[in-house]
Amino acid sequence: MIILGVESTCDETAIAVVEDGRKVLSNVVASSSAMHEKYGGIVPEVAAREQIRCIIPTIAEAILDSGVVSRDFDAIAVAYGPGLIGSLLIGVETAKSLALAWDKPLIGVNHLVGHLYANWIRQESKSRRAKEPEIKFPAIGLVVSGGHTDLVCMESHDKITFIGGTLDDAAGEVLDKVGRILGLGYPGGPAIEREANKFQYQIPNIQCHATLKGLTIPVPMVGNTSFNFSFSGLKTAVANKIQFEKGDVDVSRICYELQERIFQSLIKKTNSAVQKYGAKSVVIGGGVSANESLRNMMSAAVQENGVDIYFPQKQYSTDNGAMIAAAAFFHQNYKEVTKLQADPSLYFS
Ligand code: KG4
Ligand code: ZN
Repeated sequence: MIILGVESTCDETAIAVVEDGRKVLSNVVASSSAMHEKYGGIVPEVAAREQIRCIIPTIAEAILDSGVVSRDFDAIAVAYGPGLIGSLLIGVETAKSLALAWDKPLIGVNHLVGHLYANWIRQESKSRRAKEPEIKFPAIGLVVSGGHTDLVCMESHDKITFIGGTLDDAAGEVLDKVGRILGLGYPGGPAIEREANKFQYQIPNIQCHATLKGLTIPVPMVGNTSFNFSFSGLKTAVANKIQFEKGDVDVSRICYELQERIFQSLIKKTNSAVQKYGAKSVVIGGGVSANESLRNMMSAAVQENGVDIYFPQKQYSTDNGAMIAAAAFFHQNYKEVTKLQADPSLYFS
């Protein structure tokens, strides 16, 4: 089954062609993130305008790259929420037009579910004959992106239940905001990772920053038994620390501490969810899952309990069309073309 995946929920116009939910035939991403850099965050109007400019050329490029002709597509899939309404409308209405023009079925995909299904995409580096690992259910899914930090229990492809999420800022949002305060540009996540690595390399065999002197940033919500997160206090603590230290800010150390604290909170809640739901696997998705320290720390903690853990290949951690086509294959949630509407506040059901 060949599906064209359309992703336009935020500042990426991303189109991919995927066969049977796993094999990526093409994957093209046009990002307007550089245009938002000078504002230190996404400007919705600018993002929407860029979506209009990029969507047709990006679709054309993805189709050409895939070598698939229009009559051979089995369906068009589109992320219809959550996201910015202006950006969403461009992808949703374009996907509807294509479905009508080509007379193909239309599949609506929840962007958050898409992030988790990036883990079902076949590893490109693997030899063709290598057997794909089968992600076993029940699985705990963690979406860590710029807009969301959510934990779900996946009993099967058809039963995904929300079990907890951030009560305020998302993990990526805090990285972006602290990145802006520190003058590291947008998006903050990759810049903070680079700075944190500089600090880490200065200290060989560092285990945990709690062993360092003078740390003031707390791990949020660890004493709480719910599966919820809260990161806005952490952001304030870092902002205060920066203000307090005035010109004498150790940027790489602050970045390292911030990452550690956010990741410790994610690990604690994910591991508790694994225990409670008897999970056999953990799947992580969303832009923050591209972070190498998170990958290492989370893998060590989850595998210690004999549970399998999966991260997407890095190009499928951040927003992309392949994850939308992959999720559509496993959830053939067909929509009547004229009825599908962009839904900025779509969530896990
Ligand atoms: O999933 P995504 O592309 O878009 C949303 O759905 O929000 O995630 C974007 C977020 C941004 O907050 C960005 O700073 C963060 O992912 N991010 C990272 C890394 N790469 C992107 N955070 C930490 N480390 C990274 N390497
Ligand atoms: Zn996303």
